[in-house]
Parts: sequence; structure tokens; C-alpha cells
Amino acid sequence: MPLPIKIFPSILSADLAHLQEEVDAIAPYVDGIQVDVMDGHFVKNLTFGAPVIKCLKTNLLIDAHLMVTNPADRLEEFLAAGAKHITFHAEAVKDTKDRQNLIAAIRKGGATVGIAMNPDTPVTAIDDVIGEVDLVLVMSVFPGFSNQKFIADVLEKVRTIRSRFPDLSIQMDGGVDAETAKLCRAAGADNFVSASYIFKAKDRKAAIASLRI
Ligand code: DX5
Repeated sequence: MPLPIKIFPSILSADLAHLQEEVDAIAPYVDGIQVDVMDGHFVKNLTFGAPVIKCLKTNLLIDAHLMVTNPADRLEEFLAAGAKHITFHAEAVKDTKDRQNLIAAIRKGGATVGIAMNPDTPVTAIDDVIGEVDLVLVMSVFPGFSNQKFIADVLEKVRTIRSRFPDLSIQMDGGVDAETAKLCRAAGADNFVSASYIFKAKDRKAAIASLRI
């Protein structure tokens, strides 16, 4: 049985001056929102910290994608702010013991756990903990900015992961639109993060629906 499709708009492309209204308007159509946390170090861009999550009043599941060099040092503040899913990058935490400690700390804080991999990171780089996480985020652009072109080569990794782990959630992020989501679904992905395609659309409800079909 394929996993149900989930959509997590990334607020990176929302009108940040009206973030609460932006989130409220899409809330009925989505499974959660993703907050792209960038530290200006792990990636070139600098975005939001935990206070933004804390300010949001929503029942939506908040997924914090930590594109930061030291996710363990930042974890408590994101949990306290209300993030219920936390994804850290394989490239930021390389040691198996460190990964396991971080996974345990995230779970202890009441959140589910994801591990993210950049387009040039092989699946073998997460073999040590892939069986211990709830979700693998297969980046289909190099993280840092929205509105980049989808890298189709990563679909091979999705196929590999899906063949080994039928029940593991596989999230795609970067250049996801109606067309590329179709390719991702065919490869076995079930969870879609999209920023510009959703927030720049005239009809956001239709854009969101188009990622499910
Ligand atoms: C990339 C971020 C993505 C990005 C996606 O660094 O992790 O969430 O904002 O943007 P789009 O959907 O516009 O490619």
C-alpha cells in the first residue's frame, strides 16, 4: 500500500509580513508547514529561528528543517517553540553516535525525526541511522534558496530508499511542482515540501491539490 501523500508548504516564499494570515489561508488544504531554518553557515542564506515558530498560532504540524551546522545545540529552542517534527542534515552530523544521540533527544522532546541529504550525498551516508528515523528528506536542490531547478538525478535515491523501506516517509524538497511531484511519486516519495510553486500561485488551493494527483 503506498503511503498517503502529505504536503508541507515551506514558508520561505510566504509574505513574511503577513505570515499568520498566509499560514491560516492554506491550513485547510495541507498536512503541516515546513519552516526552513538556515544559519548562514551550513548554507549561505539566513532565515528564521525558533521565535518565528513560537509566534505562529496554528494547529498545523510544524516541521523544522534545520539547515544549521550545530543542530544539537539548537534543538531545545525549537522543541520549546512547538516544532513537532525536526529534520537535521546528514552533512551537519556525520558521526553515528552523535546522530543517535540527536535522534533520541528529538524523540524525548516529543517530536518525530527526519534526516536530510543534499543532492550529492549518497544513501550509504545515512545507512547507519536510516532504520531509526521517521522520515528521510531527499533534497532535490542544494539547500539555501527557493525557486531553484529540480535535480532529477536524486530520484534514483528515492527508488533505492523506497525499495528497502516500504513504510518510511520520503520527503522531497526543492523545485517541487505538479510535474516534478509526479516523478517523485512514481519513484516512491510520499511527502512534498514546496515554497515558490505554492506561495507564488494565484490559486494556492489548486496548486496544493495538484501535488497530490
Ligand atoms: C531549499 C529549501 C526549500 C526551498 C524550496 O533550501 O529547503 O524548502 O525553499 O523552495 P522551492 O519549492 O521554491 O524550490
